Amino acid sequence: MRYGYFDDEAREYIITRPDTPLPWINYLGNQGFFSLISNTCGGYAFYRDAKLRRITRFRYNNVPHDEGGRCFYICDGDVTWSPAFLPAKTPLDSYRCRHGLGYSVFEGEKQGVSAQLTCLVPMGSPCELQKLTLRNNNKEVKRLTVYGAVEWCLWNAVDDSTNYQRNWNIGEVEIEGSTVYHKTEYRERRDHYAFYSVNAPIAGFDTDRDTFLGRFRGWSEPVAVENRTSYNSKASGWAPMAALRLEVALAPGEEKSFLFRLGYVENPEAEKFSAPGVINKTRAHALLSAYDSVAQFDAALSELKAYWAGLLSRFTVKSSEEKLDRMVNVWNQYQCMVTFNMSRSASYYESGTGRGMGFRDSCQDLLGFVHLIPERARERILDIASIQFADGSTYHQYQPLTKRGNADVGSGFNDDPLWLIACTCAYIRETGDFSILDEPTPFNNEAGTEVPLLEHLRRSAGYTISHRGPHGLPLIGRADWNDCLNLNCFSREPGESFQTCSNFESGKAESVFIAGMFVKYGQEYADLCERIGLKEEAAAVRLAVSDMEKAVLAHGWDGEWFRRAYDAFERPIGSRQNEEGQIFIEPQGFCVMAGIGGPDYGRKALRSAEERLGNEFGIELLAPCYTEYHDYLGEISSYPPGYKENGSVFCHNNPWITLAWCKVRDGNAAFDLYRRNAPAYIEDKSEIHRTEPYCYSQTIAGRAARTYGEAKNSWLTGTAAWSFAAVSQGILGVRPDYDGLTVDPCLPDFMDGCRISRLFRGTRYEITVRRGDDKGLTADGKKLDGCTIPLTDAPVCSVLVTI
Ligand code: GLC
Ligand code: GLC
Repeated sequence: MRYGYFDDEAREYIITRPDTPLPWINYLGNQGFFSLISNTCGGYAFYRDAKLRRITRFRYNNVPHDEGGRCFYICDGDVTWSPAFLPAKTPLDSYRCRHGLGYSVFEGEKQGVSAQLTCLVPMGSPCELQKLTLRNNNKEVKRLTVYGAVEWCLWNAVDDSTNYQRNWNIGEVEIEGSTVYHKTEYRERRDHYAFYSVNAPIAGFDTDRDTFLGRFRGWSEPVAVENRTSYNSKASGWAPMAALRLEVALAPGEEKSFLFRLGYVENPEAEKFSAPGVINKTRAHALLSAYDSVAQFDAALSELKAYWAGLLSRFTVKSSEEKLDRMVNVWNQYQCMVTFNMSRSASYYESGTGRGMGFRDSCQDLLGFVHLIPERARERILDIASIQFADGSTYHQYQPLTKRGNADVGSGFNDDPLWLIACTCAYIRETGDFSILDEPTPFNNEAGTEVPLLEHLRRSAGYTISHRGPHGLPLIGRADWNDCLNLNCFSREPGESFQTCSNFESGKAESVFIAGMFVKYGQEYADLCERIGLKEEAAAVRLAVSDMEKAVLAHGWDGEWFRRAYDAFERPIGSRQNEEGQIFIEPQGFCVMAGIGGPDYGRKALRSAEERLGNEFGIELLAPCYTEYHDYLGEISSYPPGYKENGSVFCHNNPWITLAWCKVRDGNAAFDLYRRNAPAYIEDKSEIHRTEPYCYSQTIAGRAARTYGEAKNSWLTGTAAWSFAAVSQGILGVRPDYDGLTVDPCLPDFMDGCRISRLFRGTRYEITVRRGDDKGLTADGKKLDGCTIPLTDAPVCSVLVTI
């Protein structure tokens, strides 16, 4: 069943009822100021760092889920309602939430009054704008009391939800006209404050939450709203908030709009105060006057739409499959941008207070993002490389505000270094910018240690080569891509982190997955070396790659599929010799993408994966699932069967299998897998799947789980980037290359062709793919050998591919 529908023209998902199975959210903001916004207008805002600069408060694991956020109340006679249903919860005569690209619109109607609330973060401005338009569709005049309210977070989201002995003493606000300023801790070391304002005279305000809500009440029934009044409370400690009250009269047919503005301001130290204890509001005033009218708001919305239209025009497809088109043209790319911006910090499942930016996650996110904003990709690659150590190993995470490696988690995830090769090569193929390789880049962020970025790649490859185990396969360390396969951990202590503890450094546990990665990205590194004239180095790396291939064929092949690993006692994992965990998805994907054993091994491995791991939503991570905890395996066996790494469809690695099918040229199998978990294709199973039908989730419970088919952890997952890579580069076959654009589609038989438009190094390639006997590729009328179109200066190149 569905809870809404796609509007492809508008690039919106339209939710038609508030009671979606879970909050279905959207993201506002692109650079500094970000907001999460659910289909009932819940969520929160932060500036750059969701932990350290949280602007509005949100209670994870709240009951009911998702209360608070942006609280609008419309009081009409005895009835109080909210345009997005929450928080008032009054049943509406009509409701719609339209999630668009960087904006969300809520449309509610009650008693002949309609409200349209549009929220967005304008390009380049640190604020969220909320335009509320009210219309009276009745024959008589309506006198409405209207409130807009937010609750402030005391900046550090962790302290905010734990350190009450302090917090309940420090809250401070200032009120000026129709604006409430939140200035907790500004008196001492902070140089930033926030504000909430409306562009009309207010009839009253409240800034003390408990006064506004009243005793024993929540956001659904504030006492101030019940009494249609304001207490003009001035917060001093406790929980500061901002509630602004408007009295609005609407003649029959009349419409009025109000602009609410939630802003964030930083002041230089010397300009913090305008008088003792009074914050300097100059910058806030400037921001408010930049967004003071409906016309300014509308211009900001148009600018946002134009920005997205421009970005998305870099890659579009038109085919007979409307669901494929909407994933490729809009939603998958949109999610790639969100994962690039947020990494794994802030979603409804990532609290924004936990991990920083992951090394491997950020590298992989670039694979889906690099064609959208290459300049930001360049900066990100250099940031990531700067947390690497001189021996090629690397911190696993870093904090976005400081860009420093995260010492609590440390290093030792032995796949990490190779992802740097993957994303740097992808960046250069997209942009042709070899100069990035010369960029001086430090180790562990230490000044004076800078070496060219190329040296970082060299050490990445070198790290794998020099850290191998008894079978010649790479040592796994704390874990590889699978964070939960912890073969040196042996934890018996409840609550101990599986990722950071290691009670038995065997120096033996090996990963076939990293071996597959090394063969794939080692080849890419050797190709890169060759291009920049490092012939000897290229040859040496190729030799190491071929040794690794041999090691995989000798010790990583189980007869029907690739094994997963060797444990600390040199026993195979992911083998028919095991009782549980006989086959894992990861090495099937990576070893086949790397071409190990050629197409015969490839097809065999992929067929085994399909037979043993395939379900209606994709390919499960492993089978049979572990039914008990084993300390020699680590976290993977801590999950109940069918969940997370223990045998769910872990969506992130399904596209590896799609790409692997493309590698062995089976377009039917590739597409069949693609569509099984592409959100738009499973929209009509939303009551089972439960998460948003317009973005990927991290996992879908496997067959062994009680809730088979239920997805969890939507939005911030490497699935976004890899799915885009799989569909654009594998199925549609459009691959940026050093010397040109490769077009090599691998379509399912039922598709007769498609049209693709791709902006690449300044040239727009208009590509038509069709079926026919005269197989091959022509570019601007010229028949080419092979499938790579050489670079051209022409602004447009028209390409015909016959398959
Ligand atoms: C999570 C992590 C990612 C890891 C994956 C598998 O998605 O963010 O780094 O590879 O889980 O464990
Ligand atoms: C847990 C999760 C895994 C995630 C990791 C991050 O192990 O199962 O998916 O990558 O935490 O630390």
